[in-house]
Amino acid sequence: MQAHIIYENEDWMPPLRTALDNAGIPYDEWFINEGHFDVTGTPPEGVFINRMSASSHTRGHTSGVAHTRQLLAWLERHGRRVINGGHAFELEISKVKQHAALEQAGIRTPATRAVIGGPEAWLDAARDMDTPFITKHNRGGKGLGVQLFNSYAELETAVEQSAVEPSPDGVMLLQQYIDSAEPFITRCEFVDGELVYAITSDTSEGFQLCPAEACRTDVATNDEPDSLFALRTDVPSALVDKYKTFLQREQIDVAGIEFIEDAEGCCWTYDVNGTSNYSPDVEEAHNLSGMAAVADLVQRCLEAETAVA
Ligand SMILES: Nc1ncnc2c1ncn2[C@@H]1O[C@H](COP(=O)(O)OP(=O)(O)O)[C@@H](O)[C@H]1O
Ligand SMILES: [Mg+2]
Repeated sequence: MQAHIIYENEDWMPPLRTALDNAGIPYDEWFINEGHFDVTGTPPEGVFINRMSASSHTRGHTSGVAHTRQLLAWLERHGRRVINGGHAFELEISKVKQHAALEQAGIRTPATRAVIGGPEAWLDAARDMDTPFITKHNRGGKGLGVQLFNSYAELETAVEQSAVEPSPDGVMLLQQYIDSAEPFITRCEFVDGELVYAITSDTSEGFQLCPAEACRTDVATNDEPDSLFALRTDVPSALVDKYKTFLQREQIDVAGIEFIEDAEGCCWTYDVNGTSNYSPDVEEAHNLSGMAAVADLVQRCLEAETAVA
């Protein structure tokens, strides 16, 4: 029995391939964008790893999300084990669903409005928002569409200048801006219900954060850039416990969960990333490996499938 990787971003594949190779796990790769599959047929045996990204549209893979939704429904209908399966994927591509689920799990999230429509609808929804607020895409990734507005008038001006990009799914979020006590956010990496480790991520240079080497914008211009990421070992254990409960309830196997801490020490959780990428700098410095934990999970799933086959 083997693993099958569902993916669209080649840049994020090498660490996963290395981890699976190191663990001796056989796998094949399913690049997903436009294409077709045999709905009335039977999927291959094995364990599926869903690595489809909510930001696939930014790489020209505009059919990746739609294709994956249908594919996962088919695979799961046939009882295939999918790591980050259909339910997890619905949260991956909707921050509305993420926030509702986080709130339900007793996890504090920023005040958020979902706005369906274009600029007029955004302005209408923003009229009585407390300031400052941010705009954010419901289907996000890489911080795209995140912009800070200190007043309603600022949003009006940005709209007039066509400087606010719509979300790919037509759903824009207006969200309370959380003023971070320190210039970083924290991201907690979970695999199979356990915290692998947490990192801080420097926000002083903007909202577009991704720990993967491939997303780093400073590498090309600077031979030895300071890492934007550092290990964090003091995440409140009560929060970690809530995250564990949340992940179990929402059937999310792999996730990087992000929060901001304000000046009063309140933690505000605002993003759950199923296609987690791990910071090579942090992992090398501390001898950690998120992808090795993922490979261990794949191995356990394969053993479980083999046992029932
Ligand atoms: N409510 C907020 N208040 C302050 N900063 C925020 C808030 N939401 C997001 N950010 C900043 O914007 C970045 C990107 O937002 P995020 O929700 O993580 O979107 P994405 O899914 O694109 O990563 C965050 O890492 C954080 O630095
Ligand atoms: Mg994020």
